Amino acid sequence: MIEINNVSQTFATQSGQIHALADINLSIARNEFVTLVGRSGCGKSTLLRIIAGLQPATSGTANVDGQKIEAPTSSVSMMFQKPALLPWRNVVENIMLPAEIMRLDKSKVRQRAEELLSLVGLKGFEKKLPHQLSGGMQQRVSLCRSLVQEPKVLLMDEPFSALDALTREELSGELQRIVMEQETTIVFVTHSIEEAVLLADRVVVMSPRPGRIQEVVPVDIQRPRSLGHNDNAAAVTGVSARLHDLLMDPALGVAKR
Ligand SMILES: Nc1ncnc2c1ncn2[C@@H]1O[C@H](COP(=O)(O)OP(=O)(O)OP(=O)(O)O)[C@@H](O)[C@H]1O
Ligand SMILES: [Mg+2]
Repeated sequence: MIEINNVSQTFATQSGQIHALADINLSIARNEFVTLVGRSGCGKSTLLRIIAGLQPATSGTANVDGQKIEAPTSSVSMMFQKPALLPWRNVVENIMLPAEIMRLDKSKVRQRAEELLSLVGLKGFEKKLPHQLSGGMQQRVSLCRSLVQEPKVLLMDEPFSALDALTREELSGELQRIVMEQETTIVFVTHSIEEAVLLADRVVVMSPRPGRIQEVVPVDIQRPRSLGHNDNAAAVTGVSARLHDLLMDPALGVAKR
């Protein structure tokens, strides 16, 4: 579904060139859930922006469903760390926004918005304004907005990181359930090892300066997964420890500082 071929990215800044990504090659299958982890500045957001068509790569290509990505398209949607809802629009109007921009069939989309709202437990909140909702609820609305256009690919850049730990775990659980039903290919950036293991089919570990793929770790654990007591607890801990070791690798020059 997603093919990233030899992608490199440099930025010219006043203090010289920044080599944000170097030779990234990655294939992501249809309906696969991939998480990207790595130290700050290793190019995770840059890679997502390239796949979203928000940023042209300096060299190399990104393809989604066989199409070369050169600009934003309705088959790829992106969700950010902050909900960025329009404060004067109510919940359902916010969810409908991408559909309005893309001029999709309004009544169909409205029905889908209602389905998504019940999926995230916000049925009955259609007419509320964003300021009347908690941060977790706002991010749920933002998730609905990202899914309303039925994207083939959903890109998520630390979507739950501004939330408290319990809400965050709760939303991870909901996301697992939702994607099991929705058939969407997901690339999810996180700084949380637990979140990466709970959600991913594969975890892509990146290293900085320049941003490269250090290792791809498969997570072969049955779903649903949780951090509480369950049959998969030992497997979850095992993969988490492996990721921890990779991210703290002294070869990255991180542990030395
Ligand atoms: N538009 C830009 N202009 C100049 N430099 C940039 C730009 N965007 C990103 N960079 C640089 O590219 C590198 C990678 O940035 P990026 O935001 O992709 O990292 P990240 O892995 O998402 O980090 P974080 O975990 O902190 O969000 C950083 O050194 C950053 O300063
Ligand atoms: Mg980032």
